[in-house]
Formats: sequence, C-alpha cells, structure tokens
Amino acid sequence: MAPSVDHLISAVENRLSCYTLTNKSPISDSRVQEIVNAAVKNAPSAFNVQSARAVVLLKRDHEKLWDLGDECLKKAMPEAAYQALAPRVQGFKEAYGTVLFCEDQSALDGLKDKNPGIQHVIRDWSLHSSGMHQFIVWTALELEGLGCNLQHYNFMTEFSDQVRQTWNLPNTWELHCQLVFGQPKDGLKRSRERTYLPLEEERVKIFGS
Ligand SMILES: Cc1cc2nc3c(=O)[nH]c(=O)nc-3n(C[C@H](O)[C@H](O)[C@H](O)COP(=O)(O)O)c2cc1C
Repeated sequence: MAPSVDHLISAVENRLSCYTLTNKSPISDSRVQEIVNAAVKNAPSAFNVQSARAVVLLKRDHEKLWDLGDECLKKAMPEAAYQALAPRVQGFKEAYGTVLFCEDQSALDGLKDKNPGIQHVIRDWSLHSSGMHQFIVWTALELEGLGCNLQHYNFMTEFSDQVRQTWNLPNTWELHCQLVFGQPKDGLKRSRERTYLPLEEERVKIFGS
C-alpha cells in the first residue's frame, strides 16, 4: 500500500489523550499484537540496536497491572495524594489493555561496549527511540478506533519490580511507560481542548528558503 503524507499528518493531528475508556475493543487481540509487532520491528533505533521491548497486557492481566499500580501508589504517596490519584488508576483499570514499553539494558550495554566514545549519549538515544515506538502504537491503535493515554507509573521502583516479577520479564528490561487503551466511552475526544504555541519563528525556524 502506498503511504500518503496527508494520511500520516492527519493521523498525527488526530491523536489525542483519552481517559474515558471501557474494557472493550473494536479490534481483535491479534490485530493489537500486529500493530505492536509492526512498531517494534520498524521503528528506528540508534545503530539499529533494536533495544525496544513491548509487553501487551489484556483483560485480566491489564487489570492486574493497575491493581499493582494502586498498591504501589498507596505505599509510595501521602494519603491525600493517594486519594486524589486513586480514581485515575481505577479509570486505567476499567480500560481494555496496556502496552508496556521497555528498553533492554543488555542490548544498550552491548552498544556502549562497541562504542565507548558515545557511551554518555546512549541512554538519551534509547529514550528517543522508545518515544518513537510509543507514538507509532498510540497513533495506530487510535486509527483502529481505540482511545489511549500514556502513563509513567514506573516513577515508583516498586511498580517496575512488581511488573517484572509478575510477568517474569528479564531483569534487563527497564520499564519506561504504560500506554493504556480501550474503546472510548463516548467517542474519541480530548479531555480538555489542546492549545498550540505559535510555530513560525517561535518553535520552527527555516533558513535558506
Ligand atoms: C513524554 C510524555 C510523557 C507523558 N506523560 C503522561 C503521564 O504520565 N500521564 C498522562 O496522563 N499523560 C502523559 N502524557 C500525555 C500528555 O500530557 C499529552 O500528550 C499532552 O497534554 C497533549 O495532549 P494530547 O495527547 O491530547 O494531544 C505524556 C506525553 C508525553 C509525550
């Protein structure tokens, strides 16, 4: 299929964070997997190191993830902060699935060993590449009618550790984020209107044109 720039830009323009999700999906689980596979296979990585790892948690496994999120939050936060965040976590749990994006530190260590002169930038590059993977999956799931939001509960070390233990993931897989998805409750729409800073001169410069 010939890709078109207009289709790509329109998908990019339409992507949004959606927090009112249900535990249903308009597409099959194998289609979700196909999308994640396509992102992990094709997104670029520094020196083609391919350090991205993804874990798709659906239904009961997804719910288990957010039970863990709730437990960890309860331990890590002051009571008032926990009370404020708990309904959000409950909202994530009510969705259909979560994609965990990880970066395999053993692959990155291999790259560092081969390139000692650039060791200090490899972590940055790994994060850049992970973001590209996340964006592809987020945008593609949305094109299929799913709503998504991006979370970072790995700010709690215990959450990352529990996730690794529960799904028996290698110790070298560092968890970076959680993309929650599900069929939107009342259609795909932004939870709040997005504002845009001016582009020309302030955010984008062009020279030599
Ligand atoms: C690197 C990054 C981190 C983010 N972290 C969170 C997060 O932890 N929780 C959350 O609800 N949204 C998170 N977001 C979503 C942004 O808040 C959201 O994309 C932004 O406000 C623009 O809104 P939109 O996604 O509806 O266009 C994150 C987005 C990016 C790119």
